[in-house]
Amino acid sequence: MDLFDKAYNFHEAEKVIELGLYPYFRVNEGAVDTTVIMNGRKTVMIGSNNYLGLTSHPEVKEAAIKAVEKYGTGCTGSRFLNGTIDLHVELEERLARFMKKEASLVFTTGFTTNLGVISTIVGKNDIVISDRTNHASILDGCRMALGKLLKFRHNDMEDLERILINIQVIIIFSELIGDFSGIIQSHVEFVGQAEAGHPDVFAELLVVPVNHINFLLTFF
Ligand SMILES: Cc1ncc(COP(=O)(O)O)c(C=O)c1O
Repeated sequence: MDLFDKAYNFHEAEKVIELGLYPYFRVNEGAVDTTVIMNGRKTVMIGSNNYLGLTSHPEVKEAAIKAVEKYGTGCTGSRFLNGTIDLHVELEERLARFMKKEASLVFTTGFTTNLGVISTIVGKNDIVISDRTNHASILDGCRMALGKLLKFRHNDMEDLERILINIQVIIIFSELIGDFSGIIQSHVEFVGQAEAGHPDVFAELLVVPVNHINFLLTFF
């Protein structure tokens, strides 16, 4: 059997394209702003993370042009090795001050943030509990981590309790407001549930990604 047979024999996408329902790789014919030109029509963009249209703000564009003139078009290496420039350091220092924290670390995407943070903090003796419909980056981060992943049904406190009753809860991941279903779940309820199921070692950390900004909330 050819390794690529399953790719050659995959026709579902073509069928969906024929039905006019294929949602991916839509082409923007200009700046991806709060509105975009798509198929020649001005269209409101509600799928981007450019909520305020800052990517087209004259000052932001001017700063980007100056940066390209000074640094070129890429960092040519990983942040760990030769890829850190003074702009990264300045950004991280300013973000840390803004968040009133000792330090900050910038990732290039939300996906890599979740992969990096989760796989780093969940050690091999830890258990991580995640809503099963959390963003793929959270679940992938949990899978990459050496610890054990347990999943509960979406926003289902009883299912979460079933898990909490028998284990030592370490971290609960719930997308809450960032959730794709649009349902806003109170994180107070999650923490309450964690404490009820586990009064001694209660939820230490709740990661709340709110529309591309991940907040780490620590409860003591
Ligand atoms: C809650 C959440 N986490 C992670 C991501 C991934 O972010 P990115 O597209 O920057 O990789 C998204 C993207 O929509 C998201 O909504």
